Amino acid sequence: MTGPAASIEHLITEMTPAEKIGQMAQVEKGSITPEEVAELGIGSVLSGGGGNPTPNDAANWAAMVGEMTEAAGASRLGIPLLYGVDGVHGHNNLRGATIFPHSIGLGATGDPDLVRRVARATAIEIAATGVRWDFAPCVAVPLDPRWGRTYEGFGRDPALVAAMGAAYVEGLHGRPGGPDPDDSSSVLACPKHYLGDGAAAWGSARRVPWNDWWDLWPDWYIDQGDAPIGEEELRAVHLHPYRAAVAAGSLTVMASYSSWRGDKMHGHRYLLEDVLRGELGFGGLVVSDWMGIDQLDPDYRTCVVRSVNAGVDMVMVPIEYRRFFADATAAVADGDISMERIDLAVRRILTAKAALGLLDIAKPDPPPLSLVGSAAHRALAREAVRRSVVLLRGEEAVPVPAAASVLVGGDGADDIGLQCGGWTIEWQGARGAITPGTTLLEALRTSHRGPVHVLGDGVPESHCDVGILVASEEPYAEGMGDRPDLTLSIDPAVFHQMRSACERLIVVVYSGRPMLLPPIADRADAIVAAWLPGTEAGGVADVLLGRHPFEGRLPHPWP
Ligand code: GLC
Repeated sequence: MTGPAASIEHLITEMTPAEKIGQMAQVEKGSITPEEVAELGIGSVLSGGGGNPTPNDAANWAAMVGEMTEAAGASRLGIPLLYGVDGVHGHNNLRGATIFPHSIGLGATGDPDLVRRVARATAIEIAATGVRWDFAPCVAVPLDPRWGRTYEGFGRDPALVAAMGAAYVEGLHGRPGGPDPDDSSSVLACPKHYLGDGAAAWGSARRVPWNDWWDLWPDWYIDQGDAPIGEEELRAVHLHPYRAAVAAGSLTVMASYSSWRGDKMHGHRYLLEDVLRGELGFGGLVVSDWMGIDQLDPDYRTCVVRSVNAGVDMVMVPIEYRRFFADATAAVADGDISMERIDLAVRRILTAKAALGLLDIAKPDPPPLSLVGSAAHRALAREAVRRSVVLLRGEEAVPVPAAASVLVGGDGADDIGLQCGGWTIEWQGARGAITPGTTLLEALRTSHRGPVHVLGDGVPESHCDVGILVASEEPYAEGMGDRPDLTLSIDPAVFHQMRSACERLIVVVYSGRPMLLPPIADRADAIVAAWLPGTEAGGVADVLLGRHPFEGRLPHPWP
């Protein structure tokens, strides 16, 4: 055995049990100091949704990640740290990064090559700040659009999800077949959430009576719920994208909070070992979700034993990592977890790090910070937006004639936060000018030759040729977006004002899923689904103004 594999085996013989357990721990950056990272030989640190430095800019991100990375280098064996983020539509926690359409919009483009290019640009912005692991793509096949994570998936067709997921994996890595140790912008992909997160049944979400972490939020209905489906459907629909992701070279997979027929994924040895590894040939590491193992049992040590013995190699223990250390150490001492199992987990973790070139002596410099939010990346995002927009009805009412007077209204018309949705700067996202970008109103003002008026500006609204009303979902992430009623809210007063003022009325919908349109929308001349376009809503203007044809196709049936 030569090369990285030999050095990995050598490292494993050098490591103490405590250092091996250290490599298996992934801790949230707000819970640990660089000194503790060095003391404990922590394997990975993550920024959870909104885990940003202050001020939140690229240089401070690079400094924050660099501090943790250098600390790991100062540990006894200097095993390099893997820093992870949820870059699910760009380096989306970072203010100033390019925010691409959420995956449902990428699914609407139907173009894996475009998705590969989006993932490549995302990896460059992420790696520029020193981060080399992206908890993406989400390859869920969301079956119930009432689920708050519908927009994180590419769509309802397993073949589409598989093609897009594999392309995203290759884009993050920078090449087919796996990460590139010679490319400092190569970022580990992490298809998630294994397995069947999109198959949970409405109403199957359950509280965790012994852990109040999830009590912080109102009852969830379907997120983290239970998939009551048969094995044939589980394989044909939900496993299929993982087959493609593994073939594309993914070296990490994230386990799902959800369960299959009552058995939690984080403790599911058959699916994690026999199927994912035995059948799909996955050779990488399985990382738990955020406190995902805690849901297995009231006794934490039992959670550690069951999850690690089922196939979880790295535990995302964002806060109580000291307890993880104590319980894992005791479990190994008592033989509840064998040292062979520990070594296997460490081997997979070190192999993933080696695949990125992190174990090499000479490491290439990261991409320049100037690429974060670069014009080229924003142009790519605008292309993706253009190609994601779906004309639901009203082809005779589009595009907007070149000299037409336009009246713009609705909450989404001039709000970056609404056009980005959840997982943007903050975990749940937020309304307002949360990060630099272009709103639809700004784009119309720049691109449209005719006059552009804004509803409520008191300008002559008595008569305009074309009204553009942008109706939007409120931002949400995960279970916070579980909704029993998917009726899109359109302000009736705004609608009536615009309807009476304009010859033609186009309603643009910003949403993370298909929505039920209220009866009032029947009086619109055209309805356009723009999903959650991200910072470059100029792509929506490109289509409305006829600079680009409507080419998006529904990734989910629209009721
Ligand atoms: C979250 C999500 C998962 C994410 C992780 C880290 O709860 O379930 O998709 O990667 O925690 O933020």
